[in-house]
Amino acid sequence: MDLEHLSTDSLERIARAATPGEIEGLRVELLGKSGTVTGLLKTLGQMSPEQRQVEGPRLNGLRQTVAAAIDERKAALEAAALEERLARETLDLTLPAPEMPQGSVHPVSQVMDELAEIFADLGFAVATGPEIEDDWHNFTALNMPESHPARAMHDTFYFPVQNGVETDHEGAQQRRMLLRTHTSPVQVRTMLAAVKANPGGAPVRIIAPGRVYRSDSDATHTPMFHQIEGLVIDRDIHLGHLKWTLETFLKAFFERDDIVLRLRPSYFPFTEPSVEVDVGFALVGGRRVLGGSGDAPGHAWMELLGSGMVNRRVIEMSGLDPDQWQGFAFGVGVDRLAMLKYGMDDLRAFFDGDVRWLKHYGFAFLDQPTLSAGVGARA
Ligand code: DAH
Repeated sequence: MDLEHLSTDSLERIARAATPGEIEGLRVELLGKSGTVTGLLKTLGQMSPEQRQVEGPRLNGLRQTVAAAIDERKAALEAAALEERLARETLDLTLPAPEMPQGSVHPVSQVMDELAEIFADLGFAVATGPEIEDDWHNFTALNMPESHPARAMHDTFYFPVQNGVETDHEGAQQRRMLLRTHTSPVQVRTMLAAVKANPGGAPVRIIAPGRVYRSDSDATHTPMFHQIEGLVIDRDIHLGHLKWTLETFLKAFFERDDIVLRLRPSYFPFTEPSVEVDVGFALVGGRRVLGGSGDAPGHAWMELLGSGMVNRRVIEMSGLDPDQWQGFAFGVGVDRLAMLKYGMDDLRAFFDGDVRWLKHYGFAFLDQPTLSAGVGARA
């Protein structure tokens, strides 16, 4: 085949190639190691200089023409393949997107976050303690010795005594384990830790949110529920500090300036004096709306939390000198706060794990844990 013929024939076949595979086959056949054009180029070596001067440019020209044609055809085939794919695989952007299930923040977690934030602004740190507690921290150190009648009111879940040996905090009698019945033992643990770190004692300002357990179950009681404990220890702390703190906290939490508190004398073994705190509310359309004095027309008082000045005996048992250190404490049900703020009426539903309930009452998890994530931000 003369060069002229070879050139036309090759270009024709390249133009007819219908797939990238065919093009690749032609490239190997013509320009590959033992390809036709390559073979011709190799003959240059045996030619006389004169002949080479004539044939060299012709053969190299042929190689370049063929290579360019192959590249061009290959690019055209690839472009066509892409066009075809684009046409075939069009996305219908108007189709509804598949649903992405999203979790939500449980109201108890939300309220605990809100409380931590409010108290952080007041200079309180968050403290924690074990849910499996011993008798001493849960009762004795809170001024409820073995035979104290207040113990009976706690419906305590006790663990079986191990090996019949019961040793105490001080290595004595009764280290009986139980599920803590309140968050108050965190008071004791926090004071003990403060004394350990600082033998003369040190100021304490903490809240302790967490789970507590009592053998009780109806529409407003579940065997597990949540409390938040508050404790302030310093020199010269008095009842006025307690009242201001509770008022500030409740106004911030319920997002109302017209919250009115009533402090009523009460009794808790771990405080002296003890104060029960009521909050005024009005009944609006069958719902309790907090705000205003409970003595105002159409209003009433609702018991909200327990508090008082920390009993000297508790301060003493926690290793501090009660003549130098005083303080106040309070304890409040977190679930109850959530129910009041967000209008839920059955406590049991909190812990049923019903996804429909969570979807309705839960909070979008992207919300910052702040007061700005209020009712309007529900998921
Ligand atoms: N621990 C109490 C309870 O569970 C609540 C309580 C009352 C806590 C008065 C306190 C307090 O710190 O001062 O019923």
